[in-house]
Amino acid sequence: MRIDILSILPQLLESPFSDSIMKRAQEKGCVEIHLHDIRKYSLDKHHKVDDYQYGGGAGMVMSIEPIARLIEKLKSERDYDEIIYMTPDGEVLEQTHCNQFSLLKNIIILCGHYKGVDERIREHFITKEISIGSYVLSGGELAAAVLVDAIVRLVPGVLNNETSALTDSFQDKLLSPPIYTRPPEYNNWKVPPILLSGNQPEIEKWREEQSLNRTKKRRPDLLD
Ligand code: ADE
Repeated sequence: MRIDILSILPQLLESPFSDSIMKRAQEKGCVEIHLHDIRKYSLDKHHKVDDYQYGGGAGMVMSIEPIARLIEKLKSERDYDEIIYMTPDGEVLEQTHCNQFSLLKNIIILCGHYKGVDERIREHFITKEISIGSYVLSGGELAAAVLVDAIVRLVPGVLNNETSALTDSFQDKLLSPPIYTRPPEYNNWKVPPILLSGNQPEIEKWREEQSLNRTKKRRPDLLD
């Protein structure tokens, strides 16, 4: 899978992808992540990428030309399955989006800044608009990092134990059950004895009950 991320602050995205699972995914050749600096595609001598809003109003708008130039260049090099714009007024990101995106070959992710991008970019280039929640970040970069992380760990071959993504919270619309490791007792706080019993069918049953109870209590909306 290839992911091209378009940003005016690409350096913000270097660290999230240079450690742990994201780093390993790239080293194994499962994903390629390319960061692009929108500013380099501005023909303005000061590399300006924004301008005042038509009609007046506070806040700058990201201009169409540099972004269009960069997207057109990428599209001339390969076909893209989705061109995603990170924006607080997009569809709220769910695990189902991540599952679908993880099966794609090439995607572009555009990070917004200031008031956002010129509407014509959304109309003519963007195929999907994604929000990571009902709050406003100062730019789309952190949101893009969240999206990419959630997608990349699902790409086949990225996780050592493939089942560990399948048993994640949300994969079956349920939250994960509680988990424990050694020691079996700390400060008189004991691990539930069933987990130490070695009775695998009973352990699975207990886990399912715990998942269901936890979901009912914390996220009843998932059961609707
Ligand atoms: N850009 C600013 N806020 C955002 C959000 N909540 N989700 C996605 N992109 C954003």
